Amino acid sequence: MTSLSSFLNSENVSPNLASIFEAIHKASVTVQNEVSRAGLGADIFGAKGSENIQGEQQQKLDVYADECFIREFRLCGSVAGMASEEQDHALQFDESLTGEYVVMIDPLDGSSNIDVNVAIGTIFAIYKRLTPAGENLSDKDFLQAGIHQVASGYVTYSVSTQLVFSTGNGTHMFTLNPEDRDYYLYKKSVSFPEDGKVYSINEVNLDDFNPELKAYAQHCKDKRGENGKRKYTGRYIGSLVADFHRNLLKGGIYVYPATTDSPKGKLRLLYECNPMSFLAKNAGGRGSDGLQDILEIKPTELHQRCPFYVGSPIMMDEALGNL
Ligand code: AHG
Ligand code: MN
Ligand code: MN
Repeated sequence: MTSLSSFLNSENVSPNLASIFEAIHKASVTVQNEVSRAGLGADIFGAKGSENIQGEQQQKLDVYADECFIREFRLCGSVAGMASEEQDHALQFDESLTGEYVVMIDPLDGSSNIDVNVAIGTIFAIYKRLTPAGENLSDKDFLQAGIHQVASGYVTYSVSTQLVFSTGNGTHMFTLNPEDRDYYLYKKSVSFPEDGKVYSINEVNLDDFNPELKAYAQHCKDKRGENGKRKYTGRYIGSLVADFHRNLLKGGIYVYPATTDSPKGKLRLLYECNPMSFLAKNAGGRGSDGLQDILEIKPTELHQRCPFYVGSPIMMDEALGNL
């Protein structure tokens, strides 16, 4: 079995970057421990009674996970600062003015699934800081286009806890061993199947889809395979991490378009769309906002939203009208 640290070593990942993975390892084990005891002892189910800057109800576990990751990144020494879904503004770690990296994070993805014991996750993106060491961080450190990611990944807390990441050289899956709480290699260099069967979209928004997406949704319903049976099936968990993970393994597409309720789309560019698109790219898939490659977008705001299409290459081409 190949442990996370020996894998990073064999891939020649720098010690500073490896120390960020160690921080993610530690924080995710703490979150996993709390998730696995939901309903026992101190209750982590339910709302915290506060809202984040995006006007969303914070769940207790959103806040708990955020605190865990902030603590580990602060201690790690290689992280100069971070931006989180749950923090109004970017954080700078004073003691790390020399930190080489900045991290964007969705500490707890799929909050609406916490209380019903359905898969949830953590998503992260890592960039080199642009301001010189010793200077205060600025917007330019955090508002980098996704193409500049050094690494990205997610943790899924589900049947098992898995860490999926890329440092730009393939997308790899690790499973947490509950015995020694270390991550071990499960699949090296996973690829999106070229084509897939699954389309993941919240169809309650169908009336809001643009005509091309409406036509694609209809195509998925109508299309028959050679055996005369339907080619596609719908699966929508409501946790991006879980929907993406299934599609990566089985083949599929995930779409969250602009809607009346979320005119710019619902998902956040910096800590949802960019890291997932980087993983997709390193697994032979891609991410788009419907018009352009997600990774090419130059962000203007920390909590910027955008429409999001990600998945298997043939399904992406079909959905975007490139076939
Ligand atoms: P978060 O819990 O971090 O706010 O993210 C929730 C996101 C994403 O994970 C999921 O795919 C999507 O919201 C679900 O939204 P709908 O309930 O509108 O379908
Ligand atoms: Mn999320
Ligand atoms: Mn979240």
